[in-house]
Amino acid sequence: MDITVHPAKRVTGHIELPGDKSISHRLALLGAISTGKTTVENFASSQDCHSTLDCLKTLGIDIEKLERNRIVIHGKGLDGLAPPLLTLDACNSGSTIRMLSGILAGQQFQSTISGDDSLRQRPMKRVIIPLQQMGAIIQARLGDFPPLTIKGTNLKPIRYTLPVASAQVKSAILLAGLYAEGSTTIVEPVPTRNHTELALGGFGGHVSVEGNSVTISGRQKLHGIHTRVPGDISSAAFFLAGAALLGDSEVRMEGVGLNAGRRGILDLMRKMGASIEIGNERIHGGEPVADLCAKTSELMGGKISGDQIPRIIDEIPILAVLGTQTINGIEIRDASELRVKESDRIRGIVDNLRNMGAAVEEYPDGLAVSGQQSLKGTRITTRGDHRIAMAFAIAALLARGETVIQEAECAAVSFPGFFEILQRLIVR
Ligand code: S3P
Repeated sequence: MDITVHPAKRVTGHIELPGDKSISHRLALLGAISTGKTTVENFASSQDCHSTLDCLKTLGIDIEKLERNRIVIHGKGLDGLAPPLLTLDACNSGSTIRMLSGILAGQQFQSTISGDDSLRQRPMKRVIIPLQQMGAIIQARLGDFPPLTIKGTNLKPIRYTLPVASAQVKSAILLAGLYAEGSTTIVEPVPTRNHTELALGGFGGHVSVEGNSVTISGRQKLHGIHTRVPGDISSAAFFLAGAALLGDSEVRMEGVGLNAGRRGILDLMRKMGASIEIGNERIHGGEPVADLCAKTSELMGGKISGDQIPRIIDEIPILAVLGTQTINGIEIRDASELRVKESDRIRGIVDNLRNMGAAVEEYPDGLAVSGQQSLKGTRITTRGDHRIAMAFAIAALLARGETVIQEAECAAVSFPGFFEILQRLIVR
């Protein structure tokens, strides 16, 4: 479905963010392998998280979806999953396939998990290798791509140094570690989001963290909980950018998750000069949250690389758009992971910004945009990638003429209702 976006003078108002996608996946997975009932308020409306719920249902878990994004998961304990009669369908969700693989590796049955055209092109060796070291037998297309057929077993604990910084892979090994006899340790090259570690604590589990290594002991009993998911900062990012870039704007949002591994967008924008007030900081379900208010600002720009990348990995499309409006431009390096996300995001950003008339340099591991550029409306090719669709919807507000976002419905992968909320905030 095409959506046409016209230029806007300003954005103003209050938004309710969907629940955090990363945290919701983890609560669903842990709820399923805990004993007793887990109630989650503000569960992500994201299609990806509903793919996780659907896979868990296929594995025999009862899940009730109630009003206002409240879900109830009837957990069956570590060994309560049932052999699936169907192929598990992760649809577009890398988090679902990678994290659930960690659990499937510890089962006494065989299962197959796959996904849509995009997911079937995404690398899985990063989870296959450590899970095979733990004893699981895994087959994949060309040894790397879905479908994955996983024959679970009694797992052995491992000590594993991640070759690529990835919270998904860390989480898959932590989940598999729950099924191993003994202690499993994961060493990260660069710290990544620690939602799995925090959520495990909430369910009564124990992980120990020392510097860049995380250790979990196997066969721990987890118990169901009642919790609430913070608002998704990766969804907030589009509106933080829109408010900063358009004149006379102000956007407020409450209960935004500010996990240290996720708040890079906020810290970077503020460092560049953005006026974003952080108020009412508190802890919800073990995760830091706060209320944010973003206003029109002049932004300096700068270089983003190295350890900063995992903290902004999903916000790079909107940061690149933002970069075109800064004083000095933005350069992003050490981000070759972007080439294997829902689409090759470096290509997607570069091609679409160039079609909008912007000067952009492409690198194997990133890109550079110069600042103070004017953009013109065009047809945006999203390749079904939700973050590209939403980042370019914000670019469209700043452009001359109209912009058509192709396959705009893909925004629902992380943010159903994005275009309706945007429409409501726009003043023309
Ligand atoms: C995620 C981690 C990141 C991120 C993805 C969600 C998670 O991926 O890009 O959207 O929930 O753990 P990697 O861990 O593969 O970098």
